[in-house]
Amino acid sequence: MALEYTDLIISSLQAEKIATELFGVDGKAAYLPGEIDLNFKLTDDQKRVFVLKISRPDSSFDFLDYQQRLLKHLETRNASIEHPKAIADLKGDLVSSTRDASNRKRFVRLLTWVPGRIYSSVNPQTDALRYSLGQTCGTVSSALKSFEHPSAKRNFQWDLAQWKWTLSHLDLFSSEKKETILYFQNLFENKEEHYKKLRKSIIHNDANDNNIIVSENLLSPKVKTLIDFGDAIYTQVINDVAVACAYAVFGLEDPLQGVLPVLKGYHEIYPLEPEELEVLYVCLGIRLVISATKSALNKIDEPDNTYLQISDTSAWELLNKWKDVNDKLALFSFRHTCGYQGHPNEAAFLGWSQGQTFRISELFPESGADDVTPIDLSVGSTWLGLKEDFADFSHFDFKIDQMQKLEPNKIIAGGYLEARSVYGTSSYDKIGNSGAESRTIHLGVDFWLPAQTPVHTLFDGEVITAVNDAGDKEYGGLIILKHQVDQFYFYTLYGHLSVESATSHKKGDQISKGERIGVLGNYPENGNWPPHLHFQVMLSMLDYHIDFPGVAYFKQIEVFKSICPDPNLLFKSNVLKPAKFDQENQLIQFRNDHLGKGLSLSYDNPLHIVRGSGVYLFDSTGRKFLDTVNNVAHVGHEHHKVVRAGQAQMAVLNTNTRYLHSNLQELAEELIKTLPQELSVFHFVNSGSEANELALRMVRTASGQKDILASEVGYHGNSNACIEISSYKFDGKGGQGCPEHTHIFPMPDAFRGKYRGVESGKDYAGEVKNQIDSVEDLGRKIAGFIIEPIISCGGQVELPEGFLKSAYEFVRNAGGYCISDEVQVGCGRMGNTFWGFEQHGVIPDVVTIGKPLGNGHPIAAVVCTVDLAERFSNGMEFFNTFGGNPVSCSIGTAVLRTVREERLQQNALETGEYLKNELWLLSKKYPILGDVRGQGLFLGIELVDANLNPEAEKASYLVNRMKAHGILMSIDGPDHNVLKIKPPMVFSKNNALELIQMLEKILDEDYMRSG
Ligand SMILES: Cc1ncc(COP(=O)(O)O)c(C=O)c1O
Repeated sequence: MALEYTDLIISSLQAEKIATELFGVDGKAAYLPGEIDLNFKLTDDQKRVFVLKISRPDSSFDFLDYQQRLLKHLETRNASIEHPKAIADLKGDLVSSTRDASNRKRFVRLLTWVPGRIYSSVNPQTDALRYSLGQTCGTVSSALKSFEHPSAKRNFQWDLAQWKWTLSHLDLFSSEKKETILYFQNLFENKEEHYKKLRKSIIHNDANDNNIIVSENLLSPKVKTLIDFGDAIYTQVINDVAVACAYAVFGLEDPLQGVLPVLKGYHEIYPLEPEELEVLYVCLGIRLVISATKSALNKIDEPDNTYLQISDTSAWELLNKWKDVNDKLALFSFRHTCGYQGHPNEAAFLGWSQGQTFRISELFPESGADDVTPIDLSVGSTWLGLKEDFADFSHFDFKIDQMQKLEPNKIIAGGYLEARSVYGTSSYDKIGNSGAESRTIHLGVDFWLPAQTPVHTLFDGEVITAVNDAGDKEYGGLIILKHQVDQFYFYTLYGHLSVESATSHKKGDQISKGERIGVLGNYPENGNWPPHLHFQVMLSMLDYHIDFPGVAYFKQIEVFKSICPDPNLLFKSNVLKPAKFDQENQLIQFRNDHLGKGLSLSYDNPLHIVRGSGVYLFDSTGRKFLDTVNNVAHVGHEHHKVVRAGQAQMAVLNTNTRYLHSNLQELAEELIKTLPQELSVFHFVNSGSEANELALRMVRTASGQKDILASEVGYHGNSNACIEISSYKFDGKGGQGCPEHTHIFPMPDAFRGKYRGVESGKDYAGEVKNQIDSVEDLGRKIAGFIIEPIISCGGQVELPEGFLKSAYEFVRNAGGYCISDEVQVGCGRMGNTFWGFEQHGVIPDVVTIGKPLGNGHPIAAVVCTVDLAERFSNGMEFFNTFGGNPVSCSIGTAVLRTVREERLQQNALETGEYLKNELWLLSKKYPILGDVRGQGLFLGIELVDANLNPEAEKASYLVNRMKAHGILMSIDGPDHNVLKIKPPMVFSKNNALELIQMLEKILDEDYMRSG
């Protein structure tokens, strides 16, 4: 009768006694989970920690001896790794023994405890961690090459080479699961002969996520060691890689990408052979098949032992995902990762192509053109311009036509490896291991020629695909030919033909070199774009049968470069150049050499952003980032109405305000509609700093005084006068302290400021009054008072109720003017009001408007009362070369009209409330989010510990991790611990949801949760 699991149990007290008797170690024992042995963590008085392993009664001495010797071997070989050490008992034996309550002999081993975390509990499991896992496994395997022991060769169900036992248990599974298992079993069977010839050695064979110890470092954790050599066996080395990879990618959206760093690390230490890589895909699958079969059997044999079921769900999830991974793409990726050519025929193709030179006119003999002229359709292409333009067929067609007219004898062409953001549909997107990814890298060359241009082939070939691919608007008429040359074959792909061209061929047709295979299709049957040929070379069809991707994910660019070589290898045109992605270092270097050192870059690894659209920014690889930072791109990045307004006016006139122009009036009228009637006189300038500079001059001129009251940690611009009233700057790094005529009152922060709580408004206003009094004590009067309605650089600090009203009263009673700096918060962002001051029931004397007004174009404004304007106008002319020019005004008007027409203030209200509420709910789950505040789409989240101390490092970690997942956020506040959310106003509820989900994911990471 099989032993019941519960019969085997030994209590902690018994374990302690055993440890004392056998090893002379007096310690406290705590039970640890394990598959075969009963394991205890033993801590003695000197804080030494051990693992006590008590075997099952049926265990063999030889096998335990094998494990102990193996550890001894590693201990002597691998100084770089902190392996568990095997400790001899009082008699000097590495395998000791005792008798249990039923008088059964139980072998006992004592090992040192390697401190650290179990891999399965580590969050996040990054590529860097996976890489270090690969390195550790490679180091262990490398050392084991010189280890031998008779027990290493044994029958063992977890040995991948002995997988066949799983065949007889297919009936344990549902038909769907059976199909998945069969898929891998069949695949392995087909590779068996090849597999058997692969090199063998003793390997750990069980780097599962509970056998891997990771360092305690939460910011850059590394794998320290592997534990539990109970599965070590003499078998094919590649099995070890497969096992490590399998568990390392549990739970990942994209397991193939997750496998690669493990493989890279392994290969660097223990070089793998190309023949071994050929079976890695199926070995990983078979490991999961064994695991799933074992779990199914264990469920029947030992239903109480939950440890045995620990990986079942994850294993099945991965099995299903792994089955969806293209095995050939996997192989080519493995090869590339290990430094081999991705596709094994790449070198042969490159060599062969050197002897081939075709004229481009051989593809299009009837076109009469031969030479090419390049076209830039990359993400940041200014030729491509606005999304609305390239998404509009007739506009795009017209531009191609214009370009063609400029060089009628040349063919417009290009695109190999170009990162494009033009593939608008979500069918090009997926969720990767760190957020959304888009297929952006173009794998062929596009030739732009009129519809019906005949296309001829360059080589003899066989039609393997001829389909109407127009349904999903990808290729239209598509033909793929297979060509045999020398010892290999390759394929050429002709996309965007007329549908008739494709349907007039069938699979198997033989085509001769130079034969006409069809004509270019016309819009819309050829896909979404003007007529062109997508010409691509492939060394493999992977597992595609009726089409082949024309674009790849940037992460896979290197492997796809090998699978789809540059078509220009056939033409050798000097014009058709593959795109390059190596600009960033040069850009950074140039900045370092030639730009002011005070300029900063966001993020540890700076971004190279080349396009904006709505709430998104795109880097040069086409990666899309959700922008929660940019309150300058007020109505959305590159809003077409704003862009067109600027383009149109720029083409007609741009001059200064000394001539009459209706644009100036239109902009002022748009602003007047939003303002209280008291505020009706405008000066247009070019930046927020200039606006505040002018506002200061106005109140000083009007009052005849110099002294200004401003908030602690306020920021109002980069000009001299603005810096002098910006405590954020003069009290910060490099600052010179508070100037004589500036008077700083404490930041009215009801959360962590001098006075706290909802009632604190009065106290803070009292502080303003104190400052007025102290100016007056000096025998002077104040000129004015400046503050933002929500203090942005201070960390999105909302002014407490009643503060502004009282402060305004004090200021006015003292003869001063009140300036509302709306540079960040204005133009509808507050949601329930258009301007920030309206939140507080006050009307300022001067309002400064900046960032949002131009949607990125430098335009700003100062609006004031008639009275103040009169007093300012003392005879000195106000001239501003650029301020109020017709182009800027046209842009400003377009922005304000767009806010109105697209109901963006309403969106700020609704989305802002939704987001704030979700953030508030999140803060209940994650106490580090100490305060959620702000209005509309101008929110702040303050990160603090339990004692309200700022958590700046965690804020920085969070922002960098969010960026790694495709979401841009910024930090501010005097303690650098406030996340600012102030996205373009087209930010939707879905965007908010995406933000919340990702925040939650990162907040769950170990570092964010650490105390
Ligand atoms: C509140 C506030 N005022 C003024 C400015 C200065 O604006 P600009 O950078 O356009 O000169 C800024 C800029 O960040 C600001 O945040």
